[in-house]
Amino acid sequence: MENMLKHAHSGLRWVALILLVYAVVNAIIKKKNGTYTDKDKLVSILTLSFVHVQVVIGFVLYFLQGRYKGFSEMSESVTRLYALEHPLTMLIAAVLITIGHSKSKKATEDGKKFKLTYLFFGIGLLLILSRIPWPFLVPGAGWF
Ligand code: HEM
Ligand code: HEM
Repeated sequence: MENMLKHAHSGLRWVALILLVYAVVNAIIKKKNGTYTDKDKLVSILTLSFVHVQVVIGFVLYFLQGRYKGFSEMSESVTRLYALEHPLTMLIAAVLITIGHSKSKKATEDGKKFKLTYLFFGIGLLLILSRIPWPFLVPGAGWF
């Protein structure tokens, strides 16, 4: 169970990241005079859903693995990443992305919808990229 969730959490990062990049680039391109279509709405909902799924699986793993306790065989910086920085940063990113989706949904002007999307999703994306345990930074971490 724990292993399955671990692989789901690791693999689904790519779905969330690709959707975030697509949503941000799309919103930047269309903000000037694009029309906000059902497709743009769907991209926003899908992105939000995959980010939410990541947070839910992440929290389950965090408590299943007792990450808050840290692990003696890990360096101090890796312990801090898994116990605190990764969960907290990802949670903040998810909250920003949720707020962005919600504000964009409520905005009436199309330009405004796109602007809210690229601002909130863009900051969320940068936060997420900054605290993923990338294999070139964290010993033992995987690519998927
Ligand atoms: C597997 C778990 C989850 C999935 C698949 C999921 C997916 C979604 C989807 C599809 C929406 C609707 C977007 C829309 O139609 O506008 C949404 C909205 C929302 N979700 Fe989640 N979610 C999950 C877990 C959570 C959790 C655990 C929380 C909070 C603790 C949460 C908080 C919210 C909030 C606040 C919104 C409203 C955003 C708005 O105002 O438009 N979600 N989520
Ligand atoms: C957008 C949200 C998130 C993304 C994209 C994400 C992504 C990742 C990635 C790529 C890994 C590395 C997996 C590997 O080394 O193969 C990971 C590990 C982990 N994440 Fe997240 N994460 C997110 C949110 C969270 C949250 C909110 C928590 C906890 C509250 C969490 C807890 C964990 C834990 C415990 C691990 C270690 C799993 C293991 O044993 O490899 N994650 N996460």
